[in-house]
Amino acid sequence: MQQRPFALFGTYALEEIPQTFSWFEEMREHNPVFKDERTRLWQVFRYEDVLAILTDYSRFSSQAYELTGGFLSNSLIAKDPPDHRKLRNLVNQAFTPRAVAHLSDRVTEITQELLDAVRHKGSMDIVSDIAFPLPAKVIAELLGVPAEDWDIFQRWARVDSSDAASRRESGQSMQAEMFNYFTNLLEERRRSPREDLISSLSVAEVDGERLSEPELLSFCTLLLAAGQETTKNLITNAIVCLTDHRESMERLINEPALMPTAIEEILRFLPPVWFLFRQTKADVELAGQHIPANQVVLAWTASANRDPARFPDPARFDIEREPNRHLAFGHGIHFCVGAPLARLEAKIALPMILQQLKNLQRVEGVPITVRAGIVFVIGSLPVTFQPY
Ligand code: HEM
Repeated sequence: MQQRPFALFGTYALEEIPQTFSWFEEMREHNPVFKDERTRLWQVFRYEDVLAILTDYSRFSSQAYELTGGFLSNSLIAKDPPDHRKLRNLVNQAFTPRAVAHLSDRVTEITQELLDAVRHKGSMDIVSDIAFPLPAKVIAELLGVPAEDWDIFQRWARVDSSDAASRRESGQSMQAEMFNYFTNLLEERRRSPREDLISSLSVAEVDGERLSEPELLSFCTLLLAAGQETTKNLITNAIVCLTDHRESMERLINEPALMPTAIEEILRFLPPVWFLFRQTKADVELAGQHIPANQVVLAWTASANRDPARFPDPARFDIEREPNRHLAFGHGIHFCVGAPLARLEAKIALPMILQQLKNLQRVEGVPITVRAGIVFVIGSLPVTFQPY
């Protein structure tokens, strides 16, 4: 059996990524459920098996995220029913489609401000000039973080270091700083509520119960972390896919109505999240393999999205692909709370970028690096365009 060409967590060149797709292909065919003895993780590659794992929360527990430490542990994403149900119902009350649709004018304004800052230059970095600040500003606004605090907010989002130990350390101190900040903000909003998510979360009730202070705090930090890095990569990956497939880019410029199916195809083809964790609560059989209880299972959603049993000609980038039931936002009870917001941001920002930045090109010869992990992170993507 071929070993995975790369470690699960590491930094690679963008050109190396197709090797991982070839590895997925081989694993789906010959070794769809296997235990990696080095990491002691069970890895799962086929669409139907990944779907079964995400559907069956009674045997595949999300408590696996507790083992990862950091912001995911002790949050909504790491809970099973009944705790998950309670938290999710409360969150759903505040995170309504109405609350999200309400943001569309602001998403347009923020995108225009970002484009105005670079349009005369004829070059920019898609990541730092658009893809990073847009979702960060939108989440700040959604949560009700005052505009003048944008700077510290930006700093938290940039917890980044090549060395894992210092990353963990700075991550922990950032988390303490974030908790502190949100504790004060919550207190203020309780005294004088406003029309923002923090105010509605602090009063939302299910069966007469409200979110506890630690639950509220971990939800705010989860939103920041889960909503920002992922949406940043959706926008960056969109520009990677469209500059790699120029005929699709031209079609989208001329037929913007194709944007919703194109966004789904970008999510399938180069997803921001590559795998999800679960932990077996009992012995299970999956694709003829016996997985004992208490094992950590890594479900490769990025491989499921390329499974030919589900997606005809999966290596083809097809902006009109339908149906396209990819697993980029997960599936089942943990299906991404922020999916409507991420889709809204992409649906507004991408047409504005394509319409306003004529002759958008990637800068040749600049190495593009990817930090692989749960989230697939492109650090920088320089582009040129016609200034105006
Ligand atoms: C393109 C952007 C995004 C992608 C690809 C993405 C992906 C995902 C995935 C795959 C899950 C499921 C995790 C699991 O089952 O273990 C998830 C859950 C979640 N996402 Fe997103 N996400 C995105 C944007 C957002 C945004 C914008 C927010 C919030 C502002 C958000 C908040 C959450 C939360 C709170 C959960 C946990 C839901 C639960 O456990 O019930 N995400 N996301």
